[in-house]
Amino acid sequence: MNERARALRNPAAAPATEAYGAVRSQTLNQAGFDAAYAEISSWPGYAATPLVRLDGLARALGLARIDYKDERGRFGLKSFKALGGAYAVANVLKQRVAAATGRKDIASKQLLSGGFADLVRGATVTCATDGNHGRSVAWGAQLFGCRCEIFVHEHVSQGRRDAIARYGAQVREVKGNYDDAVRHAAATAAANGWTVVSDTSYPGYRDIPLDVMHGYGVLAQEIARQSNDEPPTHVFAQAGVGALAAAICASFWLRWGPKRPFFAVVEPTHADCVYRSLEAGRPVVVGGDLDTVMAGLACGEVSELAWEILHGGANAAVAVDDAYALEAVRTLARPAAGDAPIVAGETGGAGLAALLAARDYPDIRRTLALDAKSRVLLLGSEGDTDPAIYREVVGRTAEEVLA
Ligand SMILES: Cc1ncc(COP(=O)(O)O)c(C=O)c1O
Repeated sequence: MNERARALRNPAAAPATEAYGAVRSQTLNQAGFDAAYAEISSWPGYAATPLVRLDGLARALGLARIDYKDERGRFGLKSFKALGGAYAVANVLKQRVAAATGRKDIASKQLLSGGFADLVRGATVTCATDGNHGRSVAWGAQLFGCRCEIFVHEHVSQGRRDAIARYGAQVREVKGNYDDAVRHAAATAAANGWTVVSDTSYPGYRDIPLDVMHGYGVLAQEIARQSNDEPPTHVFAQAGVGALAAAICASFWLRWGPKRPFFAVVEPTHADCVYRSLEAGRPVVVGGDLDTVMAGLACGEVSELAWEILHGGANAAVAVDDAYALEAVRTLARPAAGDAPIVAGETGGAGLAALLAARDYPDIRRTLALDAKSRVLLLGSEGDTDPAIYREVVGRTAEEVLA
């Protein structure tokens, strides 16, 4: 067993020729992705985030090509999470308006213009968060005009709490880990008549996290367009509850069918719930404090919806120690010859962390089917979401790195 990383082939991976199929379409589907794209791309400030080619890094790692989807600029929130939580908030509020007025044709544009402000103001949305999802829900609540209460666990940094509060949300601490905060948010919402806008699903709670995941599909649509619909050979998707990974996996499967890329899920060593679940062939809960510098990935339970896609859709899983995540952040900040510097938080750099592990351990490179012909897509899911931590890790601010 390697000391600092391990990789696993998914024994239940669907063959490349297997169609996405009607059963999976009951979870994530093209109509849902299209609806989310139409809405989100109509919001003020929408712009596709860059897909950056890192040829120097690819050469250094013995790969043909690396493309990095840089989510730092997403709606000013510094992570892809802006797409999911806020989209689900809009849908919650549209349903509230529909219930009160009978109008089912509301678009988020009408909420933005304040058309139903009186109805919307009475709603409260809530969730548990490691930071980024809560920021998205708080932003969505402010954008569309409802109240917001966000629950954070003990390990969420002050910088991340402040970033949520800046959007006018109440931020409350829960003792324990992320999963404790999820349970607490659900109980408090039930007692107060609030709506939980969670990025994770569980039995009986699926519709809202499904909206969140369809929102994440915007990333995949942009990537396909930016790469002229030419699929990479590999995708490395970091997983907390697995919603991002599943959304990207499903979207590429629907789009590219048998040409879809080899799909690898990346997690921290001590919060490897998708890895353990793929190994066991059923969802496995990982306990403990799940502590990792990859704050967005500190989750011990895979989302039910995510599992329905990843169980067959993931080809492999990788678990990496924090040291690789930190090396990835620094590598992106001080890039190989010819590449532009990139500002990534520790969670955002997780895909590169897996490639660094594959550089060090030939068995991991083999398990991930990486070779000199590989064209790898990395999901740069966040920028410097906590600027103080970023500066500590890199020794410079984001602005200095990019200067
Ligand atoms: C920046 C970032 N990347 C990736 C993830 C993982 O997403 P998911 O929990 O959907 O697996 C998160 C989750 O919070 C995140 O904040």
